[in-house]
Amino acid sequence: MGGTYIYRMLVAFFMTGTGNSYTVARWCAQVAETTGLRSQLIQIKAGEKSDSVPLRSLAVFTYPTHGFTAPWLIMKYVWCLPNGHKNHAIVLPNRAGIRIKGVFFPGLEGTAGYLIALLLWFRGYRVQGVMGVDMPSNWTALHWGLSGENAAVITNMAKSKVKSMLQTVLAGNRHYDGIVQLFLGAALAKISLMYIIMAQFILAKLFFASDKCNGCSLCQSICPKKALRMVGRPGRPYWTYSCDSCMACMNYCPQKAIEVSPFIITLFYYIAAVPVAAYAMRYATNGYASHWGTLSWFGFGIQYGYTLVAIALAYVFLHFTLSSRLIREIAGKLSHTRYFRRYKAEGVSLKDIHLK
Ligand SMILES: Cc1cc2nc3c(=O)[nH]c(=O)nc-3n(C[C@H](O)[C@H](O)[C@H](O)COP(=O)(O)O)c2cc1C
Ligand code: SF4
Ligand code: SF4
Repeated sequence: MGGTYIYRMLVAFFMTGTGNSYTVARWCAQVAETTGLRSQLIQIKAGEKSDSVPLRSLAVFTYPTHGFTAPWLIMKYVWCLPNGHKNHAIVLPNRAGIRIKGVFFPGLEGTAGYLIALLLWFRGYRVQGVMGVDMPSNWTALHWGLSGENAAVITNMAKSKVKSMLQTVLAGNRHYDGIVQLFLGAALAKISLMYIIMAQFILAKLFFASDKCNGCSLCQSICPKKALRMVGRPGRPYWTYSCDSCMACMNYCPQKAIEVSPFIITLFYYIAAVPVAAYAMRYATNGYASHWGTLSWFGFGIQYGYTLVAIALAYVFLHFTLSSRLIREIAGKLSHTRYFRRYKAEGVSLKDIHLK
């Protein structure tokens, strides 16, 4: 069974922050084209309607792993897909590959692949393959961006893995990888859930623009989640809870002005929120519970809602305080990311992804 016999077309859906998933989608399209298939790339962004694919297509879904699972945006997109009419699909979650002093460390996709495979199955697709792909880690809020050489080694390894899987599937075979990863993901499911319902909101509020920001608003234009607003005069970026830490703004800012500082937001959180939190907790739980783990569902709900409101208020306070250039300069100097190299996928321009 040749590829052209089974499939009429390849449609690669990708969600990306820093271009890794676009790169993977492009490799898939290249393999399809070498076997004579037409291909189409579709970027998944907030607010866009889920697309259907023509009959006898191979649909590729590729996206970053966040918190050992798939980002909420891709889950929602796949869930809203029109009926797949038994079209074939493959799922390629990207993970954080790291290389230090010549030693390679793979990422951990957890439930990111098989969860989307399950949702695709519910939507009427036949999932022919699942495989985690190690691309250079883009989490530059957490660590130094990889050097060009390390990123290139990891990308080349990923390229041959992806191309060989595509050839296998286009030849009519199946390829399922990552069963061990799935078990690890199941063990880490509580962390993934906390990531989706809480951590990603906190991470959004760790970003701020330092004194290097010139108000160009590129970060706002490229955000795939429409999560950034320019506030004040001259405008400074303000991160809303819609941000899912895709890292595009931080890594593409031409001034390298976007920083992260857990110290600063913790300070503001304590100033703005903790006295009220302590009071609300005591009131809501009749003097018990001060620790998340000891809370009833009711106490958890109160603490959860309160934390989100408190962090949002603390962030308004932070944004207001940062209207002073001197404070922006001090905050920039106190942030660890000031010393970090940024990362973006080699050979991918903003015109290919966020500014298309
Ligand atoms: C907030 C955040 C959370 C992440 N969580 C994970 C994770 O749990 N496991 C993993 O292997 N990689 C994780 N990564 C790394 C990315 O999934 C990886 O670098 C991916 O290739 C980025 O793809 P993109 O450039 O298409 O956005 C995370 C990255 C970020 C920014
Ligand atoms: S943070 Fe960077 S991209 Fe955003 S407005 Fe400032 S300089 Fe421009
Ligand atoms: S605000 Fe920045 S990190 Fe958050 S979703 Fe938008 S581009 Fe990505």
